Amino acid sequence: MNKKIFAANWKMYLNSNESREFMLKINANKDLFSEFDIMIFPSHVAISIIQDLAKGFDNIKIGMQDCDILTSGAVTGSNSITSHKVDSCIVGHSERRTIFNENDELIKKKLNNCLDQIGSAILCVGETLNEKEENKTFEVIKKQLSILPHQIQGKNLDIAYEPVWSIGTGLVASKQHIEDVLSYINILIKELYSDEDRPNIRLFYGGSVDENSVEELSSISLLDGFLIGSASADFDKFKNMLNKMR
Ligand code: 13P
Repeated sequence: MNKKIFAANWKMYLNSNESREFMLKINANKDLFSEFDIMIFPSHVAISIIQDLAKGFDNIKIGMQDCDILTSGAVTGSNSITSHKVDSCIVGHSERRTIFNENDELIKKKLNNCLDQIGSAILCVGETLNEKEENKTFEVIKKQLSILPHQIQGKNLDIAYEPVWSIGTGLVASKQHIEDVLSYINILIKELYSDEDRPNIRLFYGGSVDENSVEELSSISLLDGFLIGSASADFDKFKNMLNKMR
């Protein structure tokens, strides 16, 4: 079984102290946590703490959960992609699309900002339950991916397929459904980018992934990794997932 990337989107689950304690536990389980490619997206206040405590791990990358379209200026409450030296940034998460009314035009600006400034980003796409039931999944994905830049020139682009109906619901998408959607995304990517660019693009799945689903989903060949929410913010669950994949 090829090893997948574990990307932990901690959302607003852990405060800075809890994030610190989580990283101390990772340090105490260094052998296990060194075996996998891991990405951690802590809350903004905890980024430097996590970066400090991840210094002994070459395999752990740290990213932002969101960023502004600007790099500096009078934007109260917002965060610049250059505010910390991060490895990646999530853009277009469904919670940003729904709670903060972010549309494709804004997400495009954020995506380009990340690619320009740090050369890396995770773009989240996925359909709602209604859209799935109306057989509009591919249509929605195509529209959400229409914001992709025409050239990525050595930059790292991660695309996370996160069906909205699966996020935080315990409803993991079926292996077949994920395979179908990732194959479709793969076709769109191949139309847009050259063969040389393809290795710089990775495909993720997110939506209720935990220790019970990770093994089965790991056999999806187009899948490079998981973007995990609640199960990644619980140390024991995170550890169990990795143990299953050893
Ligand atoms: P859950 O794993 O909690 O369903 O969240 C998935 C997600 O939104 C990751 O970005």
